[in-house]
Amino acid sequence: MSSSMARRPESVTSDFVARFGAQPRLFRAPARVNIIGEYTDFNDGLVFPVAIALYSWVAISPRQERCLRVYSSNFDEMAQVDVDHPAGTQGGHWSDYAVAVVASLRAQELRLQGADVLIQGDIPMGGGLSSSASLEVSFALALLAVAGIDIEARQVALLCQRAESDFVGMRCGIMDQYSIACSEAGMAMLLDCRSITHQSVALPPTARILVIHSGVNRRLQHSAYNRRREECAEGMRLLQSRWPGIRALRDVSLPQIEEAKPLLDHEVYRRCRHVVSEIQRVRLAYQALRNGAVNELGTLITASHHSLRDDFEVSCPELDDLVENANRCPGVLGARMVGAGFGGCMLALLASVELERTVRELIDRSTTVLGKRPWHYLVEASGAACEVQFKPCAQGGYQR
Ligand code: GLA
Repeated sequence: MSSSMARRPESVTSDFVARFGAQPRLFRAPARVNIIGEYTDFNDGLVFPVAIALYSWVAISPRQERCLRVYSSNFDEMAQVDVDHPAGTQGGHWSDYAVAVVASLRAQELRLQGADVLIQGDIPMGGGLSSSASLEVSFALALLAVAGIDIEARQVALLCQRAESDFVGMRCGIMDQYSIACSEAGMAMLLDCRSITHQSVALPPTARILVIHSGVNRRLQHSAYNRRREECAEGMRLLQSRWPGIRALRDVSLPQIEEAKPLLDHEVYRRCRHVVSEIQRVRLAYQALRNGAVNELGTLITASHHSLRDDFEVSCPELDDLVENANRCPGVLGARMVGAGFGGCMLALLASVELERTVRELIDRSTTVLGKRPWHYLVEASGAACEVQFKPCAQGGYQR
């Protein structure tokens, strides 16, 4: 972590004081990286995310008027949101996420309070690390806290998912918001997206995850993501006509997909094959992790990339080149694109032995592939989104 990041609570607070002239309360939510299980969440499947120590920060203090003044440090811009009648642009503006969260909380008849808010994000946007879900969750926690409303973390995740799906228009699953709101410090989670319950899983000391940005800012039109969702739904309709008992792609086996192939459009067939095989890979990855079999986990991670590239078609040439290159680097156990794809980051699983050497070599090789040194991050698992308590010290810095 850079020293400026280590001082973040202090700098966010002092920026807030300089702008709004009051002492704020401070909240943060982590990013997440998904070890394996991509595009399975909205198919009632399994996912394997880990919350990581890159954060969205929200400083907040209440005000009398029934509106929010929200300042984004990243965009150096102020937006106003009416807490009783939230209205946004829905045109891809950063403030749409703030408006969406307010609208989603309002839709539950929660009475929010006016406030001054400063947001600062340290997560690369459009990188597949869930910067938007992280912002939603930290923002929701802050709004609920100043309004004195106590809601359990799982419920906050569901409200934020609804914000993104119903109000931003990206019909996402539950993985991002849930892992950000409910992670246990230092652990990955096996999340069952049907029951929306999870099991914390320790990461083995024998492997580490390195995230590398492809330099392609995700060209994820919400429409491309939503189209994949429709293709899965289309597959489901046809599969249900053959097997009325199935409720989601989660309930389908690979032999069934093969049997139904003549019924399905070729593209829809491949989309379904990805989801069904990916859910199977998550199960195997969980077993591999429990057995400390990190080589096996690496093989599954790379297989996931091939399926996302060939069957689900959400990768891009830069990510494919990065992954191929990573897999030729000694010490790399597996690699794949991460998150919704169409650009953003790759994750590589590295053996812990000679970690420094492997990281250096992989970054050098990736620099050659991309023609410039990429943004990268060696994953530290984080706890869930929370309020940050700290006291400024006389000599600078802060104490928890
Ligand atoms: C985005 C969505 C998630 C999930 C992933 C793909 O991050 O927000 O719900 O579908 O893409 O696995």
